[in-house]
Amino acid sequence: MDSWVHNEYAIPLTTAFTTIVVVVAFLFEEMHEPRVSRSQQPSLFRDLTRKRHMENILIGGQDYCVSYLRMDVGSFMHLSSIIRDRHLLVDSRHVSIEEQVAIFLYIVGHNTKNRTMRIEFLQSGETISRYFNNVLRAICTLSDDFVQPPSGICHLEIQANPNWYPHFKDCVGLLDGTHVDVSVPTLELPHFRGQKGPMQNVLAVVNPDLRFTYVLAGKYYLVDAGYTTMNGFIAPYQGV
Ligand SMILES: *[C@@H]1O[C@H](CO)[C@@H](O)[C@H](O)[C@H]1NC(C)=O
Repeated sequence: MDSWVHNEYAIPLTTAFTTIVVVVAFLFEEMHEPRVSRSQQPSLFRDLTRKRHMENILIGGQDYCVSYLRMDVGSFMHLSSIIRDRHLLVDSRHVSIEEQVAIFLYIVGHNTKNRTMRIEFLQSGETISRYFNNVLRAICTLSDDFVQPPSGICHLEIQANPNWYPHFKDCVGLLDGTHVDVSVPTLELPHFRGQKGPMQNVLAVVNPDLRFTYVLAGKYYLVDAGYTTMNGFIAPYQGV
């Protein structure tokens, strides 16, 4: 009987002892491991997880990409390749240009907080902020390519549509404005006062095939036709 009882406890005790030895050994190693380098080194696991995250966005189907980046896969790859070809951004050791652009698009497309981004893209807040600003600067330098003033010739979409032609032959664009929520330092708040908190006034004009021909973000004066449209002054479009 005695030996039976002894045997019954012998196995769990050995297991418990082994566990304790392993835990102590682990803690000991942790204490002697240079902590800083361990937490600062991007781990292989995180790199792989991020790579898989990007793959999911790009091959998860058109719906998924549009919902996630607010842009289809083709447009996303095209935008990234323009940025790459013009050397506006560079791949970093751990973050490709595509991932940097995705970080930017996810933030502007969903108004995502820094904290959420850290979890979503497994990057530190500083890294997210740095890439966001880099991509923002890159996109701003492309504004002249994407926003082209109207040619002055009646647009083909209008010419080809008997409902529109000739009534709208002088139409140079379709104009609308919107308010975009902003976060700004307290000192600047008076410049961004809106009905529901701080916001930025944005005015945009598109041509009939929905390409931007003019965008103005900020404050502007509505002026009469004696003025030309320039930064801060919106003049009526001739003949509209
Ligand atoms: C994001 O968080 C980091 C700290 O984790 C901070 O340095 C950075 O300024 C934050 N960026 C924004 C836009 O709040």
